[in-house]
Amino acid sequence: SDLDTLYRQVIMDHYKNPRNRGDVDGETVTVNMNNPTCGDRIQLQMSVENDKIEEAKFVGEGCSISLASASMMTEIVRGRPVEEAVEIAEIFSNMMQGADYEDEKYDLGDVEALQGVTKFPARIKCATLAWKAMEQGLGADNSDGEDEDDDD
Ligand code: FES
Ligand code: FES
Repeated sequence: SDLDTLYRQVIMDHYKNPRNRGDVDGETVTVNMNNPTCGDRIQLQMSVENDKIEEAKFVGEGCSISLASASMMTEIVRGRPVEEAVEIAEIFSNMMQGADYEDEKYDLGDVEALQGVTKFPARIKCATLAWKAMEQGLGADNSDGEDEDDDD
C-alpha cells in the first residue's frame, strides 16, 4: 500500500541520513545494547540533567531498521523531560505489540513509520533495540531481559 511505501521511505531516510549519530560531549549515561539473535549492537549516550534529556546520540552497527529506529528515538527524546521520554517509550512498546497510538498524548512523528515493522515479527527486536537502551539508561527498563547489555 501507499502507507507501506511511505513507512519504508521514512525508515530508509533515517538509515541513510541518521540523526544524532556520534558521541555526546559530557554524557552522563552510556548504554551498550545488542540483539543477541543477530549481533547488531548500538551504544547510546545521553546527557541527562535536572530530569531532562539534554542530548542523546548513538553509534553502532546494525540493520536498517535498528539504526533508523535509533535515529528516530534520539530525535524524539532529545530535549525532553525524562518523564515524557519514558511515556513515549511505553507508547512505542505498545505500538510494537499492535496497539493503536493515534489518540495518544504525543505526536510520534517519524516514529510512526516503525509501525510498518509490526508486519514482520522477526524484525520487531530490531526496532526496539535503541528504545530498550534508552529505557535502561533512564532506569526505566521494562524489557523482558532477553536483550543483554555488555560492558566493553
Ligand atoms: Fe540485527 Fe536488525 S538484524 S537488529
Ligand atoms: Fe536480523 Fe533483526 S535479527 S533482522
